[in-house]
Amino acid sequence: MELYIDTANLDEIKEAAALGVLDGVTTNPSLIAKEKGVKYHDRLKEICEVVKGPVSGEVISTEYAGMLTEAEQLIKIAPNIVVKLPTTVDGLKACKHLSGRGIKTNMTLVFQPLQALMVAKAGAFLVSPFIGRLDDAAEDGIELIHKIRAIYDTYGFKTKVLAASIRHNKHMVDCALAGSDVATVPMSVIKAMLNHPLTDTGIKKFLEDYKKAFPG
Ligand code: G3P
Repeated sequence: MELYIDTANLDEIKEAAALGVLDGVTTNPSLIAKEKGVKYHDRLKEICEVVKGPVSGEVISTEYAGMLTEAEQLIKIAPNIVVKLPTTVDGLKACKHLSGRGIKTNMTLVFQPLQALMVAKAGAFLVSPFIGRLDDAAEDGIELIHKIRAIYDTYGFKTKVLAASIRHNKHMVDCALAGSDVATVPMSVIKAMLNHPLTDTGIKKFLEDYKKAFPG
């Protein structure tokens, strides 16, 4: 499973990239807005300078023509920019148009399997089901990943399933078991993925035993 970081914070992106296992970055307007004083496209450019894998930059337009205009601006930022589009009628049309020109898209705000089927038919590079927000709404986010995986495998769609809105380690384990191609996560989850209290107590005991057996 590929690992993306879901942030527009450069320090976090650099920290995650330094681990050596980071495959890409996802951003959205809310995440870039949290970074005070930055310009939207400038921040995407800075991110692309740190991470060479896919970097998703989202359009703000809600209608087809505006989405295509923004896509033109986004793809000029760097070769690894992926144009992130909302999964709506206009978003689907823009996805089909851009995919036909070989431009990679990430179809976002997916909450049910037929949205994923439609964007795959339109040639999306990535589909982003939001599992945490579904769980927040008393639905089952991981079940959505299973359903999309089954549909894509049945029909041989190449669109990558990118599990988004991930809140914790249990989501990560379940996404991996469900066959998600990618998971995008905040830095807090990346750090938590390496944690277990028995690892910490195990290291402590090894060092204590070593010092007792080999004093000085
Ligand atoms: O980037 C999209 C997604 O990961 C947002 O997550 O936590 O705002 O539901 P969240």
